Amino acid sequence: MPVVFEKCAEDGTSFFLLNTPNSSYIITVLKNGIVSHSGWGRRIEKWSGNAAIWKTDRGVNLPPDLDPRNLSLDTLPQEYGAPGKSDFRPSSIDVAFKDGSRALDLRYFSHNLIEGKPQIKGLPATYALESGEVQTLALTLKDTVFDVYVTLFYAVWAERDVICRWAEVENKTQDKIKLEKVMSACIDFGCSDFRMFQLSGSWGRERKAYIRELVPGTQSIESRRGSSSHHQNPFVALLAKDASEDSGEVFGFNFVYSGNFEARVDVDFVEAARFSMGINSYNFGWNLEAGASFAAPEVVMVYSKDGLGQMSRTFHDLYRERLCRGEWQLKPRPIVINNWEATYFDFDEKKLCALADAAKEAGVEMFVLDDGWFGNRFDDRRALGDWVVNTQKLKGGLPYIVSEMKKRGLGFGLWVEPEMVSPESELFKAHPDWCIHIPGREMYLARTQLMLDLSRQDVVDYLFETLSDIFASAEISYIKWDFNRYMTDVFSEKLDAEHQQEMPHRYVLGLYSLLERLTAKFPHILFESCASGGGRFDPGILYYMPQIWTSDNTDALSRITIQAGTAVVYPPSAMSCHVSAVPNHQTGRITPLAQRAFTAMAGTYGYELDMTKLAKDEIAQIAEYSALYKKIRSVVQFGDCYRLVSPWEKSGRIEKYAAWMNVSKDKSHAVVTVSWIYAEAYAPKIVLKLKGLDENADYKDLKSGNVYSAKELMYFGLILANMWGGNASEQILLVRV
Ligand code: DGJ
Repeated sequence: MPVVFEKCAEDGTSFFLLNTPNSSYIITVLKNGIVSHSGWGRRIEKWSGNAAIWKTDRGVNLPPDLDPRNLSLDTLPQEYGAPGKSDFRPSSIDVAFKDGSRALDLRYFSHNLIEGKPQIKGLPATYALESGEVQTLALTLKDTVFDVYVTLFYAVWAERDVICRWAEVENKTQDKIKLEKVMSACIDFGCSDFRMFQLSGSWGRERKAYIRELVPGTQSIESRRGSSSHHQNPFVALLAKDASEDSGEVFGFNFVYSGNFEARVDVDFVEAARFSMGINSYNFGWNLEAGASFAAPEVVMVYSKDGLGQMSRTFHDLYRERLCRGEWQLKPRPIVINNWEATYFDFDEKKLCALADAAKEAGVEMFVLDDGWFGNRFDDRRALGDWVVNTQKLKGGLPYIVSEMKKRGLGFGLWVEPEMVSPESELFKAHPDWCIHIPGREMYLARTQLMLDLSRQDVVDYLFETLSDIFASAEISYIKWDFNRYMTDVFSEKLDAEHQQEMPHRYVLGLYSLLERLTAKFPHILFESCASGGGRFDPGILYYMPQIWTSDNTDALSRITIQAGTAVVYPPSAMSCHVSAVPNHQTGRITPLAQRAFTAMAGTYGYELDMTKLAKDEIAQIAEYSALYKKIRSVVQFGDCYRLVSPWEKSGRIEKYAAWMNVSKDKSHAVVTVSWIYAEAYAPKIVLKLKGLDENADYKDLKSGNVYSAKELMYFGLILANMWGGNASEQILLVRV
């Protein structure tokens, strides 16, 4: 059983020991009901309670039941920080009561051990399928004065080093209360001997790794943009001082949410770190009526005793197996051609068919028609919301183009951006009140567009009907769901003044309910999410859409860093990666085709260039890459991923060369990719020690025919010389003999 509950009779305390295969998480309930955190680390079988952090006198006040003259929670590690009662660290929850008071004194009320993992109403979350897979501890705390209950959930995975935490607040008073902050998880580490790892960037430069030392005060990441954002991914890892790619303790946290979030580490005056993650309290407020409850989204917490690499693989497996859903969850993903960088808005059905001819020859399986197929959409200044085919561009409409693709043996995918409306559109004319705006204030445009107010049920219902009609209008097997601006002028005409701060969260709930209905109605469609590239790359989205366009930057060298950062948390099956033209449209850089292809093969593979402009021999070369990808895709998408060079030690950017490998789950196949970024004359040779192979087996290099023992490859390594010209790439395919 992963969860053990014990009472320590001697001093009246009791504790919960939450065990995953390699980790233990300990909660102590003091005899006065205060719920204290006693540690999270390497697995132990027994807990005496004698080493508990709260017993340590650091020269400051002790917990209340030890010294009634000095009631202080100032340094006591907590499971959930309550405000106003001497825990001066940032609280996990802020509540305003009817009398205006804001203090909370949360004490143990009850607990419940649940077989499996309860759903969180209206929110995406990881799920259990098999019996015994997960056991959930629901620990209910109650305020000492008001009938306000906070239930902390801990879903403990029996075969994975994962604990998922979330919280629910229930108002059993007679009056409304206002929630001003509700964190999903809080962990008080006994010390701050960690480095904080985060994935930050911008459009075209998403999820670069940054590592910093913890110092007293606050270190935080957040989004206030209405979505999880390009700028900070809702992910943090705390690395023990000696942790590296393959060794040392790492604690990873990822928020299953697609809206405003915050994650912070506050180091206090005794240099202990409090980690908190949840919905951003910026512009957040939730009116909790008498009898109502509020659920805060899930935080996935991964423990690794073997460095960052193992943490990544634990996230990958969990997300592929128990977060993504639907028919495409574990199905090899098709090779795509997307017409965006090939044509932008300038296309008609003839051009698309010509592109499809070339793509078919190049081994492509799915044609994706991007922006510009509807309404008056000749550029990005108009027509969002008018989801009617533009027959001037596409004679015969969607059924015709789909049948043309079918003739060529290609599936058909379509781009939509349903959450938006252009001021110049029929939809805006008909429903000016549907966009997010503050009456009386100028509306700020971004890409000449506004966001629809998905906190409104009527807007969500309208979108469901409209999109259902489009999706059913032809044989559409793939949808690229885009989202190209951030939320400003936060306000909903449907909410009164008191409820306006609920709007950003209600928007996310509206989006999730729309996605739930559409994915249930169209289970055969492969949904790909996009937000100006990777602006909403988070586990909340992955619950509905199993792959995400990683970045609008398709330059191979930029992509190496972006994809390396993304794959710290998200599996290759989730990372959509395309080969594009040179000079690259985002950086102007020229990279060899091999490098573009091998880089894109790190995820779900496709193309994004005008193949009609390529010479016959170039198409033939591309066809070879497509054939190669078809051979390796199940290893890449569903195998284990190893970073052979760790970029994290230095700047977060890979400097001389990048190398990674994918190994099939049964270890019979491996794909090793090396990519040089910087060419040097007489450069030092690289010794590339492989990882993850079956130690007792031999492997054959499919190109050279050489056979090596796995131990040779892993302990001594392959010796590679710097490739001529730099910017070159190599792929080695190994098969167990
Ligand atoms: C932004 C996306 O990231 C691109 O791939 C493309 O779909 C454009 N939007 C279309 O407007």
